[in-house]
Amino acid sequence: MKDLVVIGAGGFGRELLSYIEDDNPIFIFKGFLDDRYRFGSFASTGHMVIGSPLTYVPARNDVFFVALGSPRERYAFSENLRDAHKGDFPSVIHPTARVSAHANLGNQGCIIGPRVGISVGVEIGCFTFVQELTVVGHDARIGNWCQINAHCTIAGGVTIGHFSIIHPNSVICRGAVIGERVVVAPGSVVYGRIPDGVTVLGNPARRFVVDKASS
Ligand SMILES: CC(C)(COP(=O)(O)OP(=O)(O)OC[C@H]1O[C@@H](n2cnc3c(N)ncnc32)[C@H](O)[C@@H]1OP(=O)(O)O)[C@@H](O)C(=O)NCCC(=O)NCCS
Repeated sequence: MKDLVVIGAGGFGRELLSYIEDDNPIFIFKGFLDDRYRFGSFASTGHMVIGSPLTYVPARNDVFFVALGSPRERYAFSENLRDAHKGDFPSVIHPTARVSAHANLGNQGCIIGPRVGISVGVEIGCFTFVQELTVVGHDARIGNWCQINAHCTIAGGVTIGHFSIIHPNSVICRGAVIGERVVVAPGSVVYGRIPDGVTVLGNPARRFVVDKASS
């Protein structure tokens, strides 16, 4: 048994912990690391916040999950434990997910949620999360540090670059190539090529730019 330390005691951290507690008896929960809560206080689950992710020094039996919804924050708040301390960030697949034996998932920090479907030939990078009920079609390629939220459909052959976020209920259509650091707004339908760093919204998804002048 390993001692599980979760970075992020917010909604996502508590959700992740409930996956583990319900279904995965290989970890014993040790505590959250989170600067937003007073150490020694209790997060809303009643679990202890034991330190800051920026200063915590791992014990020999610790393993880590970084449970922050923003890929940028996930990267920043795990850096100390990942790089300086060479912490162990296992990848975890929820027991109700269906992952093809011919899919290739990153061996660090990758989390596949309940009732996700991952088809044959799919590649998913390290520290990428795929949330509940999302389906990833054959041969799709998803980079590192992505966040694929609940109820999305990622069609066969799609490419999604590092650090991109696909919000809930979006459909990424066959042939789409999504760049790095892209944000796809909830309920969007994406066709074609989306450049790096762009936010898109709607059906068909178009670049979303807030028009401050007219508001
Ligand atoms: C569309 C989205 C991605 C844009 O993000 P962003 O570029 O950071 O922009 P903001 O959210 O700050 O919104 C900027 C403005 O656009 C407006 N706006 C947001 N979504 C909009 C939409 N779908 N249609 C029209 N206007 C919208 C906001 O009200 C805001 O207006 P304001 O500046 O007058 O307050 C974001 O608004 C969003 O929907 N995020 C998803 C949140 C979510 O569902 N999370 C769940 C994860 S499980």
